[in-house]
Amino acid sequence: MADKQATLSYRDKSIDLPVLEGSVGPEVIDIRKLYAQTGAFTYDPGYKSTGSCESALTYIDGDEGILLHRGYPIGQLAEQSSFMEVSYLLLNGELPSKSQLDEFTHTISRHTMVHEQLATFYRGFRRDAHPMAIMCGVVGALSAFYHDSADISDPEQRKIASHRLVAKMPTIAAMAYKYSVGQPFLYPDNSLSYTGNFLRMTFGVPAEPYEVVPAVEKAMDRIFILHADHEQNASTSTVRLAGSSGANPFACIAAGIACLWGPAHGGANEAALNMLREIGTPDKIPHYIERAKDKNDPFRLMGFGHRVYKNYDPRATVMQQTVREVFDALKVNDPLFETALRLEELALKDDYFIEKKLFPNVDFYSGVILSAIGFPTTMFTALFALARTVGWVAQWNEMISDPAQVIGRPRQLYTGPTQRDYVPIDQR
Ligand code: ACO
Repeated sequence: MADKQATLSYRDKSIDLPVLEGSVGPEVIDIRKLYAQTGAFTYDPGYKSTGSCESALTYIDGDEGILLHRGYPIGQLAEQSSFMEVSYLLLNGELPSKSQLDEFTHTISRHTMVHEQLATFYRGFRRDAHPMAIMCGVVGALSAFYHDSADISDPEQRKIASHRLVAKMPTIAAMAYKYSVGQPFLYPDNSLSYTGNFLRMTFGVPAEPYEVVPAVEKAMDRIFILHADHEQNASTSTVRLAGSSGANPFACIAAGIACLWGPAHGGANEAALNMLREIGTPDKIPHYIERAKDKNDPFRLMGFGHRVYKNYDPRATVMQQTVREVFDALKVNDPLFETALRLEELALKDDYFIEKKLFPNVDFYSGVILSAIGFPTTMFTALFALARTVGWVAQWNEMISDPAQVIGRPRQLYTGPTQRDYVPIDQR
């Protein structure tokens, strides 16, 4: 029995509910027996007060703007680590030794190719298909190719499926891009880093050698780190819910990709850059801020606000610094960055945004960087999916290994008609 209890009075009953404590963060009232004890459900659309699982992967304190992966602050990881190292950390719980990291990186590089027949899937799509449409379809289709890693009760098969997904995602995303521009697919080059290989598969052509620009490779790797995991967000919860039924890992990640696509979630990076382009010059900003505040106007500042962060998103801080590094390395200077900085400055002085605690999130500056590197806006969310895959598979593995997890099955507050008799069509 938990040491602490919360007492709930309901109708003529008073029941004690266990209070659980994590290593850090708010206490949690365990309501699992509530229905059995009272016959009542809780109501929490959007899960604003609901914890769906126990997790040791990522911790967020949204009021303080803190994000930790396995205890390590995101700023330190972004500054000093690599995406491969963060992937190892998320999947295994601890930072790797040098030899563990080398072995992990080697293993991932040996899974970068996709089955040759998978290329034919791409040809079924229109050339102007959104890369996320292709990603949903192709990643789901992996289930049909890798039967030897689809038995989720076998930890070894789960590990292989996890490695495959992390390794193949850059290849799949780069192929989606190549298909859209009508260029041939490039096979992976395992002599390059995870991120260097992705850049080459995306921007290289068979006719000439591709040179990876180290500053761009570093910036891209950092962007991947910033997107690697974010505890129980919408797409991760979707992956867990799909996985709770016993679905295979490829299908679960395809479900996560579908959820990520929405503009309130991963699709916000694309929407944020489109918004900056629409605003154009700093003199138009006040007009758009007024629109964002107008309840009768559906316009929102994209890349602003977050369900959990009620303070500056720590990933946005790193992202803003990275913009300058990329601009310096590529000797470009997109005026939209100035527009973004000015928009942030004006919004953060505005009472509406102050009162509602709306700050830039990870997506506010990422579009400016990705555009400078050469990605079209439609690829932005695909890059997010690529990087988030490691978080998804780590969360999925954690869920399958947790004996407390059962199929996810929320209940509802039913407001439809009560039972009534069927009326034949000629009597309606
Ligand atoms: N612009 C203007 N007003 C906003 C914005 C915004 N970007 N975000 C929230 N608000 C306002 C809402 O209108 C609401 O006002 P009200 O209380 O007067 O009704 C209040 O702030 C709270 O907003 P909710 O939508 O209720 O907050 P929620 O936690 O459900 O939503 C979300 C968070 C979806 C991220 C929201 O802030 C948003 O739509 N932002 C823009 C899209 C975006 O950038 N998404 C990326 C999120 S990060 C990620 O997924 C990687």
